[in-house]
Amino acid sequence: MADTAAGDSGTSLEQRLDAMLEIERFDPSQQFREQALLSDPAVYERAARDPQGWWAEQAEALDWFERWDTVLDDSEPPFYKWFTGGKLNVSYNCLDRHVDAGRGDRVAYHWRGEEGERRDVTYAELHRDVQRFANALKDLGVQQGDVVGIYLPMIPEVVVAMLACARIGAPHNVVFGGFSAESVKERMEFSEAKVLVTVDGARRKGKTAPIKATVDEHMGDLASLKTVVVVRHARLDGVPMTAGRDVWFDEVCAAAAADCPAEPLDAEHPLFILYTSGSTASPKGILHTTGGYLTGVAATHRYVFDLKPDEDVWWCAADVGWITGHSYIVYGPLANGATSVMWEGAPDYPHKGIWWEVAEETRATLLYAAPTAIRTFMKWGHEIPERYDLSALRLLGSVGEPINPKAWLWYHQVIGGGRCPIVDTWWQTETGAIMITPLPGITSTKPGSATTPFPGVAAEVVGEGDGEPIDSGQGLLVLTQPWPSMLRTLYKEDERFVETYFARFGKERYLVGDAARRDRDGYLWIIGRIDDVVNVSGHRLSTAEVESAIVAHEKVAEAAVIGQSDEDTGQAICAFVTLNGEIEGTDELIAEIGAVVAERIGKFARPKRIIWADDLPKTRSGKIMRRLLRDIAEGRALGDVTTLRDPSVMASLESQIKDAQ
Ligand code: PRX
Repeated sequence: MADTAAGDSGTSLEQRLDAMLEIERFDPSQQFREQALLSDPAVYERAARDPQGWWAEQAEALDWFERWDTVLDDSEPPFYKWFTGGKLNVSYNCLDRHVDAGRGDRVAYHWRGEEGERRDVTYAELHRDVQRFANALKDLGVQQGDVVGIYLPMIPEVVVAMLACARIGAPHNVVFGGFSAESVKERMEFSEAKVLVTVDGARRKGKTAPIKATVDEHMGDLASLKTVVVVRHARLDGVPMTAGRDVWFDEVCAAAAADCPAEPLDAEHPLFILYTSGSTASPKGILHTTGGYLTGVAATHRYVFDLKPDEDVWWCAADVGWITGHSYIVYGPLANGATSVMWEGAPDYPHKGIWWEVAEETRATLLYAAPTAIRTFMKWGHEIPERYDLSALRLLGSVGEPINPKAWLWYHQVIGGGRCPIVDTWWQTETGAIMITPLPGITSTKPGSATTPFPGVAAEVVGEGDGEPIDSGQGLLVLTQPWPSMLRTLYKEDERFVETYFARFGKERYLVGDAARRDRDGYLWIIGRIDDVVNVSGHRLSTAEVESAIVAHEKVAEAAVIGQSDEDTGQAICAFVTLNGEIEGTDELIAEIGAVVAERIGKFARPKRIIWADDLPKTRSGKIMRRLLRDIAEGRALGDVTTLRDPSVMASLESQIKDAQ
């Protein structure tokens, strides 16, 4: 169906896409189905009949030093354990077993740098570097269970650092490079990291940020932090190095022994902590463990993207610092022995066709990107990708936020040439791996729907009040059975873990935090967050976190942040700010507030819009009514204002907005 609609009949692309909006379903082409790893829908029934058997089968695709005794230990819900009694090592599964099988010369990463550098890193090279750095960490006193912080840009060393930690059983705590040094400090402090691995400088669009110097300014004296390891990347001069604490990555690697056997670790040994945003200002340390996580990411990477490791070139265009990067740049692809593309930079530097230039040059076959990026490319025009040969592409993925049908169709037509299936994958930092997604050789897709749960995953949409399953209609999304790659807890906050995810509907039902709609065919349509979490360009932020950064400005009395719908970024940060006393809101103050947010969280969290407010709408109990703020920001008629302590606040806010326009 898709192919016929794509035919060029002399009409403009815009007209063609509009006409295609009428098409509700896109069936997998026969050609794709015939070669797909999974093409028989019976896989869903098999997994539903025996989920543990299905997941055990997936776990068998990994190499275990000792086989598990129990697939799922559900004796203490919601603290589920998977593959207990089993021993394995993630780094062994990602490296040694491929090298031992004679695949050491295979490229693990086609790394492409901003300034046109090309570095192809093979499995054997990664294996060598990881062993050295693992030994270096040991030499620095890192022991099993010690947390290692990683704050690195998109360079191969970030993978080396993560796998070296996995090799010796030291959980890593990666902080996205876009977060500020202040955020790094907070995360290192929470997790009591012993070592931080960072870089001299990070390059972005031709400029170099002096990362090490900035880290030094903010890190202060963290009692737990014994060593800072610095990767030489930007080759900056005069990098400050504190004697007795700071060491160069290349020097400690050179001094370390070459062989470091992978440590056999319990299936439930912590693999990493990754902080993400929740309802409150304090980030949540999502804890993932070894056997279940690797099983989940390897199986989903293989089946959702129909990966043929001998032929495919995989490109996940996320950043390693987010869960998408952990699971689908590092662990899933390496466990499956895939060849990946790793792009250091931005999508518009040195020019707006750089992604397509890299895709053409590496002959990428599978691409996984965020809707924000797709919408941006759409805005730049189809003429840009059309200049490149993208004929190697055979499947496209989307992740991070709902994809609007128009962007879906543009992706399908312009990037995928009408022939590539699109997999819209829904999941979260907490779920570790993809949960709701099409299987490209089986599922008929509907633009805008993430379709149905992956085999072995069970989801329902339930009523907000009664928690009863909704057959067709809107409600809250819940996952109704444990899955191997689920978070095990919030680091050092077991109670908050239970409270956040399992208090509302009981310990057997994981509350996702998204609203969703289930249609008559059982397809799921994700609507968005139900908590105060905002999704800006696929970056997850808590409104409370941004608010507390804004009120840190001395002239600010109070702030309320909402996620406003945004054509480009999905949602954008809009802040209502009340200033102290008689202070007037000025452009200068807007810039200052933006700078405070950039310093405390990161540039990506800066408000796109600041609205000065004499007062904020509050209930009688003093709670800010964000719903009304969203109505105002998005120019809608106001909802019910009768519960406000002072309903006149809304009228004055509206007139303030008008004055500003
Ligand atoms: O709201 C959902 C949205 O992103 C949230 C999870 O964010 P994070 O933990 O940062 O992980 C993002 C990458 C996996 C979800 O609660 N989200 C993620 N994927 C989709 C999505 N919303 C709609 N459709 C998706 N495919």
